[in-house]
Amino acid sequence: MPFKRVRDLRLPATTTRLRDFPFCTVHPLRPAVRFSVATTCRDGDFPMSAPAMPSRLFTPESRPLDAPDPERERLHEAGSLVRLEAPAGGPVWVVTDGDLARDLLTDPRLVKDPAAAPSGWDRRTAGLEPTAAEQMSLTTLDGPDHDALRKTFAPLFSARAMRDAYGRMTGIARRLLADVAGAEFDLMTDFTTRYPVTVLCDLLGVPAEHVDEGIAACRLMHVDYPAHVGPAMASFAKLAHAALDAGGGIAETLAGRMPAGSTAADLEYQVFTLLFAGQLTTDPAIGFLIARLLHEPGSREPADVVRRTLVDHPPAPFSLWRFTAVDLEIAGTAIPARTPVLIDIEGINERLGADGQDLSFGFGPHYCIGAQLAQLELQALAETIMNDYPRARLATAYENLRLARPGGIMGARIVSLPVSLT
Ligand code: HEM
Repeated sequence: MPFKRVRDLRLPATTTRLRDFPFCTVHPLRPAVRFSVATTCRDGDFPMSAPAMPSRLFTPESRPLDAPDPERERLHEAGSLVRLEAPAGGPVWVVTDGDLARDLLTDPRLVKDPAAAPSGWDRRTAGLEPTAAEQMSLTTLDGPDHDALRKTFAPLFSARAMRDAYGRMTGIARRLLADVAGAEFDLMTDFTTRYPVTVLCDLLGVPAEHVDEGIAACRLMHVDYPAHVGPAMASFAKLAHAALDAGGGIAETLAGRMPAGSTAADLEYQVFTLLFAGQLTTDPAIGFLIARLLHEPGSREPADVVRRTLVDHPPAPFSLWRFTAVDLEIAGTAIPARTPVLIDIEGINERLGADGQDLSFGFGPHYCIGAQLAQLELQALAETIMNDYPRARLATAYENLRLARPGGIMGARIVSLPVSLT
């Protein structure tokens, strides 16, 4: 099919022009120059401005820890909005510019509901959750429904609530490190999964005897995503049930705050979401954090090491999927409704200025609900290692460390991290 330049596209008379969106809602002083809406183009006959750029960005790979990613460099050079072939087929537009990303992450015409995904996508291959109509979830609701559910969660994971839990996080770090200390061991085989699952279970109120079940579910996700999503989700749901039965944790408080009309299954799904989203991200972050901590003996301010680690190795290298709810023009490119858009968080972080705002935890209404928890949990771990194990060291040369990406939009993990804690 021949591809036309966007300037050749004759927009219909009903197209909403820039004057209808004079200002960006989040940055009122910055004109929202990037958007106009072409509402009457029919699905399927909307010209695409560029063919997909061949890229290995979504394919599995392994490389030395600090080696630059050549694919991201190519992506950045290709422009602020680049068309690639999506892992589940068809086009995906990847945003490489920080300002454009922030505009899009706050634009209501980009939605998270998988109901707006391309009709040809296989849910499993694409790793999509149920639609918002099938199952309410923070990660798939949009607009006022999402705002209402966020209010349910917000106080439970506030900075204050998480600071209050810091002592418990430190206690868990101390206990789990004591279990493995004294010998050379690979931090990635068990500890990076065990620590965040234990912290999450403790906060949610999941009884300790279920922690191993949670770890097994997380491992399934690492081994073969998305083939193991189903069984892993079933295990997470079981943990959610156990927390509600036991009571006394965040899960129970959440139960008392759920929106009117929600069901027990809705509540279980929220608990599953917290465990799933919290585990998958914090687990790889621990490897990168400890590698840096032990490699840079001067890095003695835990909060700073955590921040720099999350900027350089964001556990979510891309945003989750968003889809255009209507035909849009973004950065001069005509994009039809139901088109997937991803934010290249890792690439944008790489080009941050000294006081730039990183996107490691996202931006806008879907900003990570667990951001405070994750940062404090990582700080508690770094601080405990520094205080309790002043002679801790890497048991291999830093240059030997490698990371591996499983492919798709999933983040990288360090393959093996031998350490000695004495
Ligand atoms: C270092 C660890 C973490 C990183 C880097 C991270 C990153 C992110 C990012 C980038 C998003 C936004 C996705 C998007 O807008 O498409 C997000 C959302 C979310 N995160 Fe995290 N996350 C982390 C830890 C956690 C933890 C510990 C929890 C559990 C409490 C959690 C729960 C969630 C939830 C529920 C959402 C969806 C929020 C919404 O859509 O309103 N995350 N996270």
